[in-house]
Amino acid sequence: MMRTKPIEVVLAQSGDQAEEGREGGGRLRRRLGPVDLMGFGIGIVIGTGIFTLTGIEARDHAGPAVIVAFALAGVASLLAALCYAELASSVPTAGSAYTYAYATMGEIVAWIIGWDLVLEFALGAAVVARGWSGYLAELFDLPGTFFGEDSVVNLGAVAVVLLLGAVATIGIRQSSRVTNLLVVVKVAICLFVVVAGAFFIKAANLTPFVPPSQPVEDEASGLSRSLSQLLFGIDPSAFGVAGVLTAAAVVFFAYTGFEAVANLGEETRKPRRDLPLGLFGTLGVSALLYIAVSFVVVGMVDYRQIDRGAPIASAFDAVGAGWASALVSIAAVAGLTSVILVDIVAIGRIGFAMSRDRLLPPKVGAVHPRWGTPYRTTIAVTVGIALLAGFVPLSSLANLVSIGTLFAFVVVSVAVPVLRRTRPQLARPFRVPLSPVLPIVSALACLYLMTNLSVETWLRFLAWLGIGLVLYLAYGRRNSRTAEREAIEKGAGGSARPTPDR
Ligand code: ALA
Repeated sequence: MMRTKPIEVVLAQSGDQAEEGREGGGRLRRRLGPVDLMGFGIGIVIGTGIFTLTGIEARDHAGPAVIVAFALAGVASLLAALCYAELASSVPTAGSAYTYAYATMGEIVAWIIGWDLVLEFALGAAVVARGWSGYLAELFDLPGTFFGEDSVVNLGAVAVVLLLGAVATIGIRQSSRVTNLLVVVKVAICLFVVVAGAFFIKAANLTPFVPPSQPVEDEASGLSRSLSQLLFGIDPSAFGVAGVLTAAAVVFFAYTGFEAVANLGEETRKPRRDLPLGLFGTLGVSALLYIAVSFVVVGMVDYRQIDRGAPIASAFDAVGAGWASALVSIAAVAGLTSVILVDIVAIGRIGFAMSRDRLLPPKVGAVHPRWGTPYRTTIAVTVGIALLAGFVPLSSLANLVSIGTLFAFVVVSVAVPVLRRTRPQLARPFRVPLSPVLPIVSALACLYLMTNLSVETWLRFLAWLGIGLVLYLAYGRRNSRTAEREAIEKGAGGSARPTPDR
């Protein structure tokens, strides 16, 4: 279970020497450049977070300093992005965190991360599809029986998942085009919000910038308390420095998803140069937009009056510019659509990588001869997500997406110094500065954010990992290609020599 996959094998599989045409062993097509990667990154990152959390966190925890909360969460994400950039540029692969863990920490950790990423992306897509459906119903006054949270079958959510699943199946270039279009719409509207809203900023709304700390009635009890409250007996407080930190943990959600860029390592023309560009570009654009948008919102409205549900649209309503709210809704729908699409694209790549290693059946990862996509995984995942989104009210499970993401970040952060130690000679086009200090700070920051999630979320997460473990023992452990390779090497008296690092 602790066997690791040699880096040479990872590089060979993702590079020019891959075995083409073999069932389950085909290759993805290299069609993406840095702008496409940023399109995918921004496509998955800017979704519901900025459109909802800004209001809730300004009102409940940080006041105008929600701007600082966005900046702090951006810094935590940047630390993780540095680690992703080093690994993605030196070992570009469709498996991303799953493969990095396989090469450094062993098969069992890799499986757990792969299984964890399935949770993150599949559940993320299903949750967002239901949100999408609700938004659309509001925009066009559609019947709640088929589009709302009370529907028996959420047809809107099923339809959008099937449609985007079809795009993801047909090709990476088609997916990239659709994503880029949606990204242009949402970024343009966010910029518009900033420029138009700037005229309505009042300095008085920004003071006090950090409202003084005050204790809050803790309504959360039992399993809905955060792990840190349970473990360390911390009392929740609103505002003050602690309030800003709590808000930072919550708005971190708005940054999740950028790491999906690393899953496109085998479809990028120049992965070693472009993956870091894609990761940092995505994060830079998102962070700047988040900070600017939150600044404008808390500048336009007194934080005590900000709307919890639709902070941006109602900020414009409050200053008598109601026409802007329709635009904001369009941006939100475009944002949610691209999040679902990139989620489906990313999960297809993870399934492909896991099946190539035979931790999933080989047929699962087959690449379509014409479309060049892992079509079977993509179709299967699309159907699974559509069923989830159609029948299960998922809003309470959204936190599972955050815990899954953070867990992957911890493992990726740890993988950086481990790989530096085990493979010091590996070519690293991008290097995390100050390693191992920054990777360790990154892992600790993510662990800290994880402890802010509820005990309930932790239990659900552990249950999911438990199911994964059973599947691994039943299938992956027996069929693993790495195990097979090791057995052959042993049989050959260990004479097989690895190819040198590139
Ligand atoms: N980061 C994504 C969002 O904010 C998940 O919706």
